[in-house]
Amino acid sequence: MSLDPSSAQATRYGSNAGQPLTRRDGLLKVTGRATYAADNHPEGMLYAVTAVSKIARGRVTSLDVAAAKAYPGVVEVLTPQNRPPLAHDPDEKLPPFGFRIEVLQDETVRYANQPIALVVAETLEAATEGAALLNPQYEIRKPRTGLDDGMRFDPPAVGVGSPPRAEHGDIEAGLAAAAQVVEADYETPAQYHNAMEPHAVVAEWDGDRLMLDMPNQALVISSASYATYFGIRPENVVIRSPFLGGGFGSKAILNGPQMLAIMAARMLKRPVKLALSRSQMYGPVGHRGNTWQKLRIGLDRDGHLTALHHKSISATSSFDDFLEPAANASTHLYASPALLSEHEGIRLDVGTPGPMRAPGEASGSAALEVAIDEAAEACGMDPLDFRLKNYAETEPGTGRPFSSKALRECYMEGAKRLGWAGRPLAARQMRDENGFLVGWGMGTALFPCPQFAAEARATLRADGSALVETAGVDMGQGAWTALAQIAAEALGLDPDQVEFRSGVSTLPDGGIAGGSGHTASAGLALHNAGKDIIKKLAELATKDSASPLFGAGNVGVDARGGRLYRRDDDSRSESYAEILARAGGQEIIGSGQSTREPDHSETHAMFSHGAVFAEVKVDPDLGQVRVSRLVGAFAAGRIINPRLVRSQYFGGMIWGASFALHEEAVIDHRTGRVMNADLAEYHVPVNADIPSLEAILIPEDDPFVNALGVKGVGEIGITGTVGAIANAVWHATGVRARKFPIRIESLV
Ligand code: MOS
Repeated sequence: MSLDPSSAQATRYGSNAGQPLTRRDGLLKVTGRATYAADNHPEGMLYAVTAVSKIARGRVTSLDVAAAKAYPGVVEVLTPQNRPPLAHDPDEKLPPFGFRIEVLQDETVRYANQPIALVVAETLEAATEGAALLNPQYEIRKPRTGLDDGMRFDPPAVGVGSPPRAEHGDIEAGLAAAAQVVEADYETPAQYHNAMEPHAVVAEWDGDRLMLDMPNQALVISSASYATYFGIRPENVVIRSPFLGGGFGSKAILNGPQMLAIMAARMLKRPVKLALSRSQMYGPVGHRGNTWQKLRIGLDRDGHLTALHHKSISATSSFDDFLEPAANASTHLYASPALLSEHEGIRLDVGTPGPMRAPGEASGSAALEVAIDEAAEACGMDPLDFRLKNYAETEPGTGRPFSSKALRECYMEGAKRLGWAGRPLAARQMRDENGFLVGWGMGTALFPCPQFAAEARATLRADGSALVETAGVDMGQGAWTALAQIAAEALGLDPDQVEFRSGVSTLPDGGIAGGSGHTASAGLALHNAGKDIIKKLAELATKDSASPLFGAGNVGVDARGGRLYRRDDDSRSESYAEILARAGGQEIIGSGQSTREPDHSETHAMFSHGAVFAEVKVDPDLGQVRVSRLVGAFAAGRIINPRLVRSQYFGGMIWGASFALHEEAVIDHRTGRVMNADLAEYHVPVNADIPSLEAILIPEDDPFVNALGVKGVGEIGITGTVGAIANAVWHATGVRARKFPIRIESLV
């Protein structure tokens, strides 16, 4: 059971994989030449700092604005008394995300770290000092931050608009018919995104034109929203977001602090920069809300599921509605004649939660995968055999076929790599050479395949090279590289011949970099834009009697290496440059959209799948848990760039380890404040916490998901890993940890 030092490199690429190019932006990043939002310093720029509430519920009764304004360098202090109006009421929730924006509407405090003023100064130091001088006084009310304190409600929707309840079959009849029922409660904590780059903005107005340098995961949607709030035309908002130091969902949605800085810039007629401190990100810019989940699994004598009931109570703020859609994780994975997923909301005095790293799927599958292991144990079965016995050949509940599902291959390859066949069934059977308890566990990974609206433009230049453009987002995942590869392939060009422009809201809408759907969405738009060019080019050539391709219209042409070839005769071809030159040297412009054509999303269930296997070592005296191996095998349709995809899987698995063992925002229920609101005390894994990782890319051809055959890879890694680690901890210790993160005190 010793570690294989070569295993970190032991990734195998499927036969459907494209070129493993390195990141196009990599050199800029490692040489420090990549400029992030806060690196911008326009002429005459001011610095803004938010003053934030120390209490979680109540009212601000006084602020010493005079003291702050008297401090040298302080230019202005925005408070509810003087903050400029907005064209759209910030309490009115805007589609598509529907969040209230916190911009000093009044003196009410609804959560700790809520902005209560914005101080603007000539220097960062003066703005910081001015904020400290405000000396807020409060009328304090008792905050409601625990499960027993908050108001419970039945939500109309969970996540971003999904139904809160799904029922197939008769759950009570399924439970009544069961030979045994496994029932358990699970708890997941509040988690914060903690992107390396804090939320920042440099806002500059030129009349009614607004220029924003800010990290943003949804450029065109955000620019339209800013236009609404400021009463200007959408095309007058320019968001530049070439690089993001991580997003994790927190940079897709508008927030109060950035909005305040933009308001200040307009009011003061000077550019304004705001960059949140790490602790200021614990409140106004989203987080993953707590969940309290219950699973009930009915089992027949053979170990088949007779019923699967998953209920989640998820926390939101007192004024918004976003709920972690945790129970949805149980409706697409295991075959059961009866399925029920349902959600209840609870209102707490916390900042509004939002999407974070596989929202719903991560916390829901953490509970589901442990429950499934508990069910396997109750049946006396191996966890892998149990999962295979309950393998869903069609989508549970609906009976729809899967567009593709190579999950069985994921199970088999992952198990083989870990050596699962040698795993003892009972817990506490394995020790390493130091006497540590060793355990092996597994979890199934699953993530849906959304297709977002996106557009792209391609320009074929006279020299035969191309420019492709879409307002896409590279938050570290390698979008610039993978999207350019897709465009190059559609254009029949080498990636080096394709200039890729992205990261600016004035380009064609690249959709959202979220939901693990950016490559499928912006990629499909680019693919279609490239195809549009080739179609136009072929028309020029095949109708031109001077072209060797003349008359090939019915046979068709192929595009590769910057040339069109007659499909039935490789000896007849012509370069793009030659075709264009004869047509008058004009460039050709093509456009594309991300529409699924034909659209199989109603008739087919579309998911990426995977299986994660974990080995943990537990100190038998101290209860300390170390993950010593993680092997993930994933099937996600066609792989555009295996190097980048492997990196995405690693990232997901690392966040899974983080969820299982490290991350938790600890609230002091007396004050309602997060006690560990920084990177020193909010634990995220460091290199020493992460063992050798292996990601196996299982080949999968999906003819239905979209014309590219591409599914999502960004978030799936987190979904299998949490359960795999928790189940490995059980296998090592015999203790079921049902509360995350798993702590020493749960194990002794
Ligand atoms: Mo994500 S939470 O889809 O950015």
